[in-house]
Amino acid sequence: MKLAERVSHLGTETAFAVSAEAAAYAAKGNKVYPFHIGDMNLPTPQNIQEAAIRAMRGGKTGYCPNWGIMPLREALAAEVSRTHGTSYTPENVAIQPGGKPVIEKFLLSLVNPGDEVLYPNPGFPIYESQIEFQGAKAVPYGFVPGKDNFLLDFEAIERSLTPRTRAIIFNNLHNPTGAVSPREEIEALAELCRKHDLYVLSDEAYWDVRYAGDSLSIASLPGMAERTVILYTFSKKFAMTGWRLGGAVGPKDVVAVIATLNVNEESCTNHFVQYAGVEALTGDQAAAAEILGILQERRDVAVDLLNSIPGVTCYSPTATFYLYPDVTGAMERVGAAGYDQFRLAALEKTGCSFCTRLHFGRALPGETRHYVRIAYSGIDTDQIREGLGLLKQWVES
Ligand SMILES: Cc1ncc(COP(=O)(O)O)c(C=O)c1O
Repeated sequence: MKLAERVSHLGTETAFAVSAEAAAYAAKGNKVYPFHIGDMNLPTPQNIQEAAIRAMRGGKTGYCPNWGIMPLREALAAEVSRTHGTSYTPENVAIQPGGKPVIEKFLLSLVNPGDEVLYPNPGFPIYESQIEFQGAKAVPYGFVPGKDNFLLDFEAIERSLTPRTRAIIFNNLHNPTGAVSPREEIEALAELCRKHDLYVLSDEAYWDVRYAGDSLSIASLPGMAERTVILYTFSKKFAMTGWRLGGAVGPKDVVAVIATLNVNEESCTNHFVQYAGVEALTGDQAAAAEILGILQERRDVAVDLLNSIPGVTCYSPTATFYLYPDVTGAMERVGAAGYDQFRLAALEKTGCSFCTRLHFGRALPGETRHYVRIAYSGIDTDQIREGLGLLKQWVES
């Protein structure tokens, strides 16, 4: 079969391949410590589950509006307005089957083939995949290590701007590095977007996975709400990754296009699941707070252990459920020639399964340090202790 030319530009999320590899290894009777995927091993809060069941039993099983049900659009507009200091209405909100579809629909709505789009690398791999699939040019920008946090490589962003640059994807709080942009950085980026008339996809998937301080959105800064589409998701805060519920929040004209894309692609987001979303946003928040407490404990245990491994240094990010340790020294110690050799040897010798820098984009010119991503959302504290303890023994031996 002769596939369409565009298919050759379609990427994927290679973390899923690492998952499959780990599952195959476990199926052979081996112990695996799953640090590879940003899924959660915590249940969705009971009150949210009950709301979906009630809605299903109450007959919410047919199609619903392509924009999403009004109670959810109202609740999400109110929530984002409250947290962002903006004044969104339901006309600014199109409900989606997850946060991920917002990436594709933002680009389809605002970017022409041949336009250039800046995106973070390392970063969520679907950005690069969708930009290139849609015939635009994906222009990466990286991060530089700061005192206690990764910072945007702002010079790289400025250097990469051309008259064809149309948009930038900004993922604060960041997967995979756990980076939290300080206010000055977000202000400088906003200034650059205004000056060069860029649209922004503000991927806020981890907005509420925050252990200290408050999240700040680029959409909250002067002149930015009118050029920014926010990717909102229920996946992480409410442990709802498999429910597939999210939203695009942004200027009315672009959100209207996104809603029309909804009709074209999936008609509407799952009807009864949207009632669970209303409960998540407006109901009891105790379980969500509990989830955050569990994640924070895991973070602390993992960061301490990683920093005790020779040749490993790791920040303690105030957000997300990812760590991005520099493992350059550890790789040298075990004699690993490259990322894949290190990852596979770690799996075989210790059972620890994780993604490396290369699962989040092609390495940028001049990159000399080596990093891996340790996700702690899908593994209990005692297993983190055991797994990273074995990793430590292996690197020390
Ligand atoms: C940075 C980022 N954006 C978006 C998503 C998409 O999440 P979902 O489609 O589950 O809402 C993820 C999921 O891991 C992510 O890490």
